[in-house]
Amino acid sequence: MPKKNIGQVDVSGKRVLMRVDFNVPLKNGEVTDDLRIRMAVPSIKSVLDRGGRLVLMSHLGRPSGAGFESEFSLEPCAKRLSELLGKPVKFPSHDCIDGSSAAAANMLQNGEVLLLENLRCHKAEQKGDAGFAAKVSAMGDIYCNDAFGTCHRADASMVAVPKAMGGKPRLCGFLVEKEIKYLSDALANPKRPFVVVLGGAKVSDKLPAIEFLLPKADAIIIGGAMAYTFLKAQGKGVGSSRVEEDKLGDAKRILDLAASLKKTLHLPSDHVCAEKFEEGSAPKNATGDIPAGLMGLDIGPATRAAFGAVLRSAKTVVWNGPMGVFEWANFSEGTKSVANALVDATKAGAITIVGGGDSAAAAEEFGIADKLSHVSTGGGASLEMLSGHAFESVALLDEA
Ligand code: 3PG
Ligand code: MG
Repeated sequence: MPKKNIGQVDVSGKRVLMRVDFNVPLKNGEVTDDLRIRMAVPSIKSVLDRGGRLVLMSHLGRPSGAGFESEFSLEPCAKRLSELLGKPVKFPSHDCIDGSSAAAANMLQNGEVLLLENLRCHKAEQKGDAGFAAKVSAMGDIYCNDAFGTCHRADASMVAVPKAMGGKPRLCGFLVEKEIKYLSDALANPKRPFVVVLGGAKVSDKLPAIEFLLPKADAIIIGGAMAYTFLKAQGKGVGSSRVEEDKLGDAKRILDLAASLKKTLHLPSDHVCAEKFEEGSAPKNATGDIPAGLMGLDIGPATRAAFGAVLRSAKTVVWNGPMGVFEWANFSEGTKSVANALVDATKAGAITIVGGGDSAAAAEEFGIADKLSHVSTGGGASLEMLSGHAFESVALLDEA
């Protein structure tokens, strides 16, 4: 069911309580990657330009929940947002539900915006506590969810707060709308061939997605450390590569499922290895079995070419997870080659979607993010969608 968006209601003179995901990386009190803040700006501007009074709320990181901790303060995000908007962003208090926060929300004028302190400084946020939600919800006349990266969480601000605001408008923001549309269209009605690329460290994180996607996709490409669990399950030598021994049975089951569905599951045929898990380790290529004493840290040249050919002929691609340790130059070529193949596929008319997290960071680092159809701001949230799970935080919003 499509949801009503923030642009479809009159916000003039109203306090709009908007949940955003400003869980961004910080260094020395500065935001080092503002993608999530920039992506929330269209919803924010839409409210302010139409005379709304905007109360923004977010979490940042995983504080203990026992009160204010300066390293988890959202204050640097208020500063960055203020630069992006070219207007002040009030930051009334280091406690999101104290008297100063509530008073500031009530004193906002039309076109003004404030940001509350990190919701997770209260344990009640992640517990979904109703008393906490009542205090937060009292700060808004309209609720808006534009926190795509947090949509898979049942935190108070995502579920209990909008529940407490039943009867008032509860809307999705433009970012949530766009992210969900890209991923659900790709899953419901993909232009074919539809190819899914999965990577990253752990098979266990990606198992539900592989099982959900195998029947839908024309092919699944698996790289990254998770590939070694599959290779070992096939009886291949993986040396000292990272393997999840307790997932070998699941890997076998998936290999059998792919065979019974007649779907191709592409695994690496060669590898860039090292003796130690260290940035400066000398890279050594291995084809087929990885010898004892070596661990695979990236896909090898033949695999890059094979994966690249599959991706370049695809019409829809969803990518979640790097092919190797892309942060280290010696082991970054595999991830770079997938990124470049996606750029070529996009140029040739394919829809290409990067599912947030490390692969989005890689796309940014390689400078190709704007050459793809869509780069998600939510790694965990997009993986949930790729596993076929619906979001309670979105289901409860008003229908269009
Ligand atoms: C994220 O970056 O994964 C989201 O902001 C959600 O944060 P969480 O994983 O700590 O719940
Ligand atoms: Mg997360």
